Amino acid sequence: MKTLIIYAHPNTDGHCPRILKEVESVLKERKKDYEILDLYAMNYDAVMHESEHYTSGGREVSQLNKGIQAKISAADRLIFIYPVWWSMMPAVMKGFFDKVFTPGFAFRFRTMPIFSRIFGGYPIKMLKGKKAAVFLTTGTHRLLTMIFLGNRFKSIIKHDILGFFGIKAKVWHIDKATQMNDRQMRKIRKAVKKGIGWLC
Ligand SMILES: Cc1cc2nc3c(=O)[nH]c(=O)nc-3n(C[C@H](O)[C@H](O)[C@H](O)COP(=O)(O)O)c2cc1C
Repeated sequence: MKTLIIYAHPNTDGHCPRILKEVESVLKERKKDYEILDLYAMNYDAVMHESEHYTSGGREVSQLNKGIQAKISAADRLIFIYPVWWSMMPAVMKGFFDKVFTPGFAFRFRTMPIFSRIFGGYPIKMLKGKKAAVFLTTGTHRLLTMIFLGNRFKSIIKHDILGFFGIKAKVWHIDKATQMNDRQMRKIRKAVKKGIGWLC
């Protein structure tokens, strides 16, 4: 039962790198087997190419992405770590979702007599049974993100993306991530402990 960590941050220090270190340390402590996909370090190609663009008929899934799909299939638990940039995930993580979670792997559409005539295909979730813990950071205080953004950055990853594939997800939000200090480190430790506790 492997845990796959998908990590997107270009820096070697800061909140996300600390979260990654803390996640690794808790997983080691619990003697859990894990693997890290560090998207920046891999120089992951996040660009959707015409040959891959499945809604217009592209069928190509690169060898790299097929290999990643196999890793996801083999993992019961997924961990995502990234900073919130303009209320979204970094582009490299977005491209990762676009290109790896393809139809036939993460979801498919079933034709249903009346439903399909009105709405189109009915989506079937293909990754049920998997769980994901998402650790994300924002510069803004959590109260302000709630008031001004309605925490969209949390619900999109939880419901619109992972939920669409059938992956049960919970999000841990580290806010005020502007300067690393003891308080921020305590927040990270608490979130990671809770997140891994829920996941494993
Ligand atoms: C391009 C960019 C866009 C950002 N957009 C947001 C944003 O929409 N909301 C927010 O609260 N913080 C935003 N920030 C601040 C980051 O979320 C913050 O620097 C990061 O979470 C801190 O984590 P780190 O130390 O791992 O980089 C942005 C930062 C960058 C570089």
